[in-house]
Amino acid sequence: MAKITISVIKADIGGYVGHSSMHPNILTRAMQILDDQKKKGLLIDFYVTHCGDDLELLLSHNQGENSGEIHKMAWDLFVECTEVAKQLKLYGAGQDLLSDAFAGNVKGMGPGCAEMTFEERESEPIIIFAADKTSPGAWNMPLYKIFADPFNTIGLVIDPKMHDGFTFEVLDIFENKIVKLNSPEDIYDLLCLIGASEHYIIKSVYNKNGEIAAVTSTQKVNLIAGRYVGKDDPVMMVRCQSGLPAVGEVLEPFSLPYMVAGWMRGSHWGPFMPVSVKDAHPTRFDGPPRVIALGFQLSQGTFIGPRDMFADPSYDLARQKANEIANYIRRHGPFEPQRLPLSDMEYTTLPQVLNKLKDRFK
Ligand code: F6R
Ligand code: MG
Ligand code: MG
Repeated sequence: MAKITISVIKADIGGYVGHSSMHPNILTRAMQILDDQKKKGLLIDFYVTHCGDDLELLLSHNQGENSGEIHKMAWDLFVECTEVAKQLKLYGAGQDLLSDAFAGNVKGMGPGCAEMTFEERESEPIIIFAADKTSPGAWNMPLYKIFADPFNTIGLVIDPKMHDGFTFEVLDIFENKIVKLNSPEDIYDLLCLIGASEHYIIKSVYNKNGEIAAVTSTQKVNLIAGRYVGKDDPVMMVRCQSGLPAVGEVLEPFSLPYMVAGWMRGSHWGPFMPVSVKDAHPTRFDGPPRVIALGFQLSQGTFIGPRDMFADPSYDLARQKANEIANYIRRHGPFEPQRLPLSDMEYTTLPQVLNKLKDRFK
């Protein structure tokens, strides 16, 4: 069977209200455009959703990764949806379209993108995660737990097909270099890097036969723009079952509302709250940061689904804990560790404040 490519391409092209959520007209417009593209044959199938103010396009096709045609189609869609956002005067219309002209690939231009190509298995369960009010490093901890931690993924111990472990591709976002590290052999080195989740970001995970298992979007919008334009609100895609982690093992790390960077003005630590799509609208202090998980069965590239995986009472405790943590850490106001450390404030007002005060430092 021919290989298929799944692309998740996302952008914040305007919020409703403020940066909290998405206007339904944007979703409708995006669906119309993708439906046309499906009829024209460019796409096998698509699904449109949002997490907070981010528009998420899930596409299946035969064009391969980094396809100019697919990326241009997504870019043009974001431009068209920005027009809808402008008509409604939605907030921050066109926020992520950092360049005026399309340059062949959405990567490095503002939108986020995660893609994988594989031969569809006899049954192909996949989960698409999308986040709002946080950065791509948010996937480091769950990916480690899913693919390297037997206390999360018992399959690493008792499924012979997983017993050899996995290979992690880690991106140094400042140097733009990738290192491959193996689990279990290199886990201490791996943790040494990915524990600094604002610097080293897991880009993809493969099994030891070289089969793709997970990918993330690794853009850093603030590094691209050179000034603060928002956190990246990343996406992640994970294949599940039959020698890969089970659906439940893939979801398990989110039972802990671990701390991620983002929240208000992209400048705070906050608990990552797993929510259903209907609750994916960060409000309190523009947060707390949210994550949704949509499960699909692929059938010849068609998305059967979604199942809204966090619309489940077994995540109630995580949500309650997230609210407790949010309450506690919020009381620190502008002080660390609620506020991010100085190194992560470089793209905010910090340089201006330092410049203004330079003669007053004696
Ligand atoms: C964080 C985010 C919001 C905004 C905040 C200020 O990623 O999107 O918290 O940073 O609402 O927004 P502006 O500067 O547009 O008024
Ligand atoms: Mg926004
Ligand atoms: Mg957002």
